[in-house]
Amino acid sequence: MSTPSLYPVKPEIAANALINEEQYKKMYQESIVNPEGFWREHGQRIDWIKPFSKVRKVSFDDHNLYIKWFYDGTLNASQNCLDRHLAERGDQTAIIWEGDDAADQRTLTYAELHQEVCKFANALRGQGVRRGDVVTIYMPMVPEAAVAMLACARIGAIHSVIFGGFSPDSIAARCIDGRAKVIVTADEGIRAGRKIPLKANIDEALKNPDVNTVEKVIVLQRTGGDIHWEDNRDVWWHDTMKVASEHCVAAEMKAEDPLFLLYTSGSTGNPKGVLHTTGGYMVYASMTHEYVFDYKPGEIYWCTADVGWITGHSYMVYGPLANGATILMHEGVPNYPSPARLGEMVDRHKVNILYTAPTLIRALMAEGEEQFDGFDGSSLRIMGSVGEPINPEAWRWYNDVIGKDTCPIVDTWWQTETGGILITPLPGATDAKPGSATRPFFGVQPALVDNLGNLIEGAGEGNLVILDSWPGQMRTVFNDHDRFVLTYFKTFRGMYFTGDGAKRDEDGYYWITGRVDDVINVSGHRLGTAEIESALVAHHDVAEAAVVGYPHDIKGQGIYAYVTLNHGIEETEELRQEMRQWVRKEIGALATPDLIQWASGLPKTRSGKIMRRFLRKIAANEVTNLGDATTLADPSVIDVLIESRLNKS
Ligand code: PRX
Repeated sequence: MSTPSLYPVKPEIAANALINEEQYKKMYQESIVNPEGFWREHGQRIDWIKPFSKVRKVSFDDHNLYIKWFYDGTLNASQNCLDRHLAERGDQTAIIWEGDDAADQRTLTYAELHQEVCKFANALRGQGVRRGDVVTIYMPMVPEAAVAMLACARIGAIHSVIFGGFSPDSIAARCIDGRAKVIVTADEGIRAGRKIPLKANIDEALKNPDVNTVEKVIVLQRTGGDIHWEDNRDVWWHDTMKVASEHCVAAEMKAEDPLFLLYTSGSTGNPKGVLHTTGGYMVYASMTHEYVFDYKPGEIYWCTADVGWITGHSYMVYGPLANGATILMHEGVPNYPSPARLGEMVDRHKVNILYTAPTLIRALMAEGEEQFDGFDGSSLRIMGSVGEPINPEAWRWYNDVIGKDTCPIVDTWWQTETGGILITPLPGATDAKPGSATRPFFGVQPALVDNLGNLIEGAGEGNLVILDSWPGQMRTVFNDHDRFVLTYFKTFRGMYFTGDGAKRDEDGYYWITGRVDDVINVSGHRLGTAEIESALVAHHDVAEAAVVGYPHDIKGQGIYAYVTLNHGIEETEELRQEMRQWVRKEIGALATPDLIQWASGLPKTRSGKIMRRFLRKIAANEVTNLGDATTLADPSVIDVLIESRLNKS
């Protein structure tokens, strides 16, 4: 098989695309040279209640940091996703929903979605939710999840969506930090044939006495399964909707009013509440959605992300709905009940644009091409990838087997913090190189710096930073602005530090090499090694733990834990299983260690600092060239760890 390293833009795609190479260059140049003028123009793409006159006010100085966009304008995000489409496309399908069981199908038009959102917005008000209150959403992938988000936006409440895979302890921590007033959940979710006890997890979380702000729990009936009920706290979704009026004037929000919180892992401490505001986020999410996916009216767009992640916020709900798109939403996972499901869904719903993650592509690839024998795929036009670096083999498989070598692939690099895509090809403009996220989106100024913060010119490798603001940028860490400044603006002063490393080639293309901090990326899910370590040491048999990522064929990175047990505790297989269950319980299944190595000692400097680079190398089975161990308090620890390492592939 030939393995080209460059996939030039196909002329027929360039001819019909929203942006071709010439336009990209011109617009990019304009966006950097004249950001005021550029964003003044593109800020008009959404509907403002009161138009803005001020475009931006930005300083990345860590002593005097501020980020404001369109800041004297007012708007409402739900109005931008719903009301403004009613006249022209009220009867167009907004959401096509397919259940975990493919026999379950639903559609909602824009008019219907608008009505549901208005009613639920009133239902929330009826339960005491007011502008500025935090509403936690812990829902399965059903249209009501989007309804709940948009209903919050409609009345100016701040939503905080928690992925359905997180444990009661994780829910509790997020409710405490966000001071959630109301929780919206379902009795149970269904994913890959398995029931997920959402309401039971909420009940458990609310037993934590420190969760003391939650007044009501609104419960959607999804499965009808048996659940515990607290009469003075729990309310059925359908009961609140019965009495709710379908008229709800959208609240007039300032551009810089919060739209949502989304917790994400960092290299230290608890997950942080990333705060996004309204105006800049809506401009950026909708603009990137349109240009990156070359979205044309009438097209069917499918993003396989869960609403619990930023991709589900920006590219399943806000971006596409602001653009009047028809979205496909899937309750389950795209390789259940068989790997053919993804292709079946594309064909069944005539999907034009598919946005998914490398981990899924690798999982499908491992099943063999014959799984796709019956796949037609002729509706597909553009395909995207997000969440982690895509290895060139997976890129080519995606291109050849799913895209039939006719669909441009956009490898989109971004983060929860960035709100929208920052580095990406544009389908009609950018020649693709498998494995490269290629070039910056309009207004984005990426750069590479060495560890001292010196800018690297030309081709090279370093820490990825962004030199100036873009409208979708997070504004603060909820309740902890100092942490925001410290995490993102102090490592390299005057620059936003992404936490990623990258290479830049002679063509100016960026190749993300992965995190350079203690964050790992497991199946596109972001986890802090510190979180997993603190979960492990909370177990009464554990004295010490160190967690690192290691290369994993399907997940991208797997979780490798080194655990030192308390004196006298026996290192058994049973205990290993118990540890895995323990981490599941503490954080959620996504954080379960793949490998747990018992370690009688960890490599530490004389001052007691764990030298993680040794642990990373041993976990990766790179044991021949470990580097200088002479600074270790006890270098012999290394040999013992190498000897009993668990990954020998
Ligand atoms: O390391 C990068 C990786 O995912 C991190 C952000 O994770 P999260 O905030 O959960 O957001 C994921 C969805 C936007 C980044 O710091 N990452 C994301 N997209 C890519 C990527 N790495 C390489 N290539 C990508 N396309």
